[in-house]
Amino acid sequence: MRTKLVAANWKMNGSFKLLDETLNVLSPLMERASCEVVICPPDVLLYSMKSAVEGTRIAVGAQNVHSEISGAFTGETSAPLLQECGVQWCIVGHSERRILFGETDEFIRSKTETLLKHGIRPILCVGETLEQRKSGNHEEMVIAQLGKGLSGLAVDDQNRCVVAYEPIWAIGTGKTATPEQANSMHKIVRKELESLASPEVAGKMQILYGGSVNAENADTILSQSEIDGALVGGASLKIDAFPLIVAAGN
Ligand code: 13P
Repeated sequence: MRTKLVAANWKMNGSFKLLDETLNVLSPLMERASCEVVICPPDVLLYSMKSAVEGTRIAVGAQNVHSEISGAFTGETSAPLLQECGVQWCIVGHSERRILFGETDEFIRSKTETLLKHGIRPILCVGETLEQRKSGNHEEMVIAQLGKGLSGLAVDDQNRCVVAYEPIWAIGTGKTATPEQANSMHKIVRKELESLASPEVAGKMQILYGGSVNAENADTILSQSEIDGALVGGASLKIDAFPLIVAAGN
């Protein structure tokens, strides 16, 4: 039985105030929650979050990392520094990074390896565009991203990775994949994990769904057999919505 994981991706949003408010609401809820929760705010909030979540079951997550551990990479953040900020999880391969910042599968793979070396668990995002889905290439696309992201890693490392299936056409659009579409892609992801890793790794790995998850649809999405959690963007910034999504993960 896989524990559900609800992850908040704040993207370039939020504030110290929102972090305070969110933790104040979530901390008591987490005392009786069965799911895991991770919040990925912008980097400048990470260090404050580290002390604010002490003694709670809320984990600190980052949205990005560089593959190198130091150097002349203006504006980037290293894995060792994330580690110092108490970061336990980090998103890699988000479609916004792939599309807006030109990140390739190779770069994403090297970030994943760097994170693993520094004890940070990667949340590897995969997902197709609307055109790829319309032309029937969506499965092939997602399988390729998975292979480049995870094949050949040591089993212990694969066991520390989580996959987030985020169809690009569902991100920030209000259009979610139907629970059936999401569940069926998750089955394909798991089957692929069986061959690129092993049935044991595939059976244990949490596969999250992301794309317009909100307080209204979270129950249905999270009750699908192959969906082990959610990666939530817009609704994770809403203090009246995110706790309901976390509750749906219990
Ligand atoms: P939305 O929940 O706003 O659609 O964003 C999803 C996402 O990109 C999470 O990483």
